[in-house]
Amino acid sequence: MNQKLLFARAYEGVAAQQIPDEARPLFHLTPYAGWMNDPNGFSFYQGRYHLFYQYNPYDTKWDDMHWGHAVSADLLQWDYLPAAMAPDEPYDDKGCFSGSAQELADGRQLLLYTGVRAEGGERDKEIQTQCVAVGDGLDYAKLPQNPVISWEDLPEGLDKHNFRDPKIWKTAEGYRCVVGSCDESGLGKILLFRSADGFAWTFESILAENDGRLGLMWECPDFFSLDGKDVLLVSPQDMLPEGFEYHNGNGTVAMIGTFDEQTRRFLPEADQAVDYGIDFYAPTTLLSPDGRRIMIGWMQNWDTTQLSGSKDRKWFGQMTLPRELFLRDGRLCQRPIRELEAFRSRPVIYENVLVDSVVHLPGIQGRTLDMELTVRPEPGEPLYHKFSVRFMENEQFHTKLSYRTHESVLRIDRKFSGSRRAYIHQRRCQIAPRNGEIKLRLILDRFSAEVFINDGEKVMTATIFTDLAAQGISFFADGKVRMDVTKYDLFSEETHETL
Ligand code: FRU
Repeated sequence: MNQKLLFARAYEGVAAQQIPDEARPLFHLTPYAGWMNDPNGFSFYQGRYHLFYQYNPYDTKWDDMHWGHAVSADLLQWDYLPAAMAPDEPYDDKGCFSGSAQELADGRQLLLYTGVRAEGGERDKEIQTQCVAVGDGLDYAKLPQNPVISWEDLPEGLDKHNFRDPKIWKTAEGYRCVVGSCDESGLGKILLFRSADGFAWTFESILAENDGRLGLMWECPDFFSLDGKDVLLVSPQDMLPEGFEYHNGNGTVAMIGTFDEQTRRFLPEADQAVDYGIDFYAPTTLLSPDGRRIMIGWMQNWDTTQLSGSKDRKWFGQMTLPRELFLRDGRLCQRPIRELEAFRSRPVIYENVLVDSVVHLPGIQGRTLDMELTVRPEPGEPLYHKFSVRFMENEQFHTKLSYRTHESVLRIDRKFSGSRRAYIHQRRCQIAPRNGEIKLRLILDRFSAEVFINDGEKVMTATIFTDLAAQGISFFADGKVRMDVTKYDLFSEETHETL
């Protein structure tokens, strides 16, 4: 094993000891030590889920990309394994960038990733190629034939400085992968390749391209079939907002359409944001052994990476909750993975509560919880204008979800979560009440909130670094509203002991 990886493994082992468990989220993955961005190599291998991630063990800032590594039986309780790769070869010494994993015919695991090297030693002139490593679920060796896909293999006019984030999947003939790229004017293109063995790759087609509407470069593609359609996920850089879509600049877009095997092109029919909150980027999916398409994303926004609550925090970056994907009425919908339900305890249930001013409900509070709300107007009364729920609340702080009936808009606002900076703190999305009702499922961990709206129709995700003492929850309406609430604690000591 190369010195640089040995050193990283020794260093991360020591650095991780300085992070007490209670300083981390309870059930969202953080880096073992230092910095984490995109999820990589999300896969099921030898009976366990593997999740690798973009990783700098040495600092809480992006630099010197390694691959961190964690495994889990249930996608929620992760065990750290030593770093899987370090940028230690001439073709990747400026970083082992994002990629994916598949099991090979001989039972080994293949990692397909982007190796970044400097052109003439200049940092701002980097060349990106696709490389492989194989391993046994713990140790991985990069192969001597790297890189396995170079920009020389591509059609004319593509940008060799932007060619990254291969996502591999199995086919009847072997493997395929999609890679993000752009042309010389900076517009994203997704390239499709095939391989019989995972090592020798042939360019097939430009699967999809940006006509200028959705940002510039398209990062971290993923491509899969779902409920009779084909879905392309991309994370474009520098998007402009359109109505209520694409407010984050760098965000993730789902295109839903059909793959034409003749032309090897994807024909999108509709597109939408994947998450309408503040912190969500670069997701990737796997197909679970029981056939679910499960997605996990980086719970962060590149524009707010300074926001970590405390200068002393020794980790940076969290993954979202893994989410099951499905199509409903032509939209990509998401629900939290069902494995979460085993970790719910101590239900507190209220039915048909009248909310007509500020309401606190005994037993409804906490910082690590799963809460379902159904909200409807009081029959025979004028329609209310605004309903809101404040959480992570005390005298000084709160984060708020508020719904305005006349606009059908739901807003998340973390302005009062302890930040002293001029970052964006709110996002809005349009939601459609069904039979006058809205349904919200709010999942809180120590430093995040994920809101699943109307059974997964839309999701809003935000990191929240409010003081952990802020545990309160309150409800408000400026008219007469009826509400059902079910709240569970998540991963409480009690459930831990009995599992
Ligand atoms: C997306 C990204 C990827 C790249 C990685 C580098 O967040 O920019 O395109 O591979 O991060 O860490």
